[in-house]
Amino acid sequence: MSHKKMLQCSMGALLLLLPWFGGLVLGEISKDFSQCLDFFYKETPPTGIPAEGYQPICQRYQNQYRFASLYHREHRSPLYSAYILSHPDGKRPNSTWMFEPQNVMESQAVNEDYKNSNFTKGHLNPSLHQKTKQDRKATFTLTNIVPQQKGSNSGPWNVLEQEVLRKFKTFCNGTMHVITGVMPYESEPHWINNRVSVPEYMWSAYCCSFVRSDLPEQEKLFFPTYAAVGRNDRNSGEEFVPVNVKAKPSVRGYDVRRMSLQELEDILRQRLNVPIALFNGQCQYEMSLWWVCAAVFTMCSTSFLL
Ligand SMILES: *[C@@H]1O[C@H](CO)[C@@H](O)[C@H](O)[C@H]1NC(C)=O
Ligand SMILES: *[C@@H]1O[C@H](CO)[C@@H](O)[C@H](O)[C@H]1NC(C)=O
Ligand SMILES: *[C@@H]1O[C@H](CO)[C@@H](O)[C@H](O)[C@H]1NC(C)=O
Repeated sequence: MSHKKMLQCSMGALLLLLPWFGGLVLGEISKDFSQCLDFFYKETPPTGIPAEGYQPICQRYQNQYRFASLYHREHRSPLYSAYILSHPDGKRPNSTWMFEPQNVMESQAVNEDYKNSNFTKGHLNPSLHQKTKQDRKATFTLTNIVPQQKGSNSGPWNVLEQEVLRKFKTFCNGTMHVITGVMPYESEPHWINNRVSVPEYMWSAYCCSFVRSDLPEQEKLFFPTYAAVGRNDRNSGEEFVPVNVKAKPSVRGYDVRRMSLQELEDILRQRLNVPIALFNGQCQYEMSLWWVCAAVFTMCSTSFLL
């Protein structure tokens, strides 16, 4: 190829690629999560999910990793996003939706898919659970989004997100790892625009191994780990989440049931047909060094006195 031709060619390629880089670039398509293991408890992604058909994404924005998502190519939506929860600073940012430059429309949801779909764009990692403006903006990528009914998104699921944030602020005295994901329909898949898979349920679990020493008795059930499943279809059966018939009509049928991590993992095992372990069986209280020293000291001095 002549010099001039090569130049033209690369210019052409650049022009073709430009729309994908327009504005915001993030999301790193990689073989695994090795660049963003920090977002998983004990740096261990959930076990039991087959690799085939899924794409690990280290969600990068402005040159920093912000969270991690496992993307299902055929569904054009994530199975889950994993992140570290922190207090939000300031207001929800203006949403500019971003998509991955490495991908093409073929394997990615685009804004058009959501238009006239009657579904809202449901965040798995909600911007409410992120601290800085950049961290919050990074959640506005369609690889972190699923088609969610408005009644769920602005109803009981939003209540759950607020509640988890409150539990973190009030009782967690360390890092809170969260994994939030979806369960597709069991038999026939549902799609928007014949492209993006609609989940039947949303689910979420958190793990906080260091809690405040003054954790009240009635909160002990919710630590170190707890979970929930939310309805995304008011016509679903009630085997996982019962319906409160007294809820106001706009949110009726979009209930969220709180449950233990074990219960959630049982449901996921049943519905996704794989033995999923979200925190790899490891989310347990950890004693701080200070506590261990105090315990050892107490033991020693007690035995000395005896
Ligand atoms: C968000 O967008 C609105 C309207 O475009 C604009 O008035 C506002 O200043 C923006 N806010 C931020 C924080 O960028
Ligand atoms: C959206 O909802 C409206 C009113 O319920 C309905 O007429 C329309 O067919 C729905 N659109 C899609 C794409 O399902
Ligand atoms: C929180 O953790 C810090 C550092 O380990 C410790 O000094 C402090 O006492 C803890 N606070 C509570 C309320 O447990």
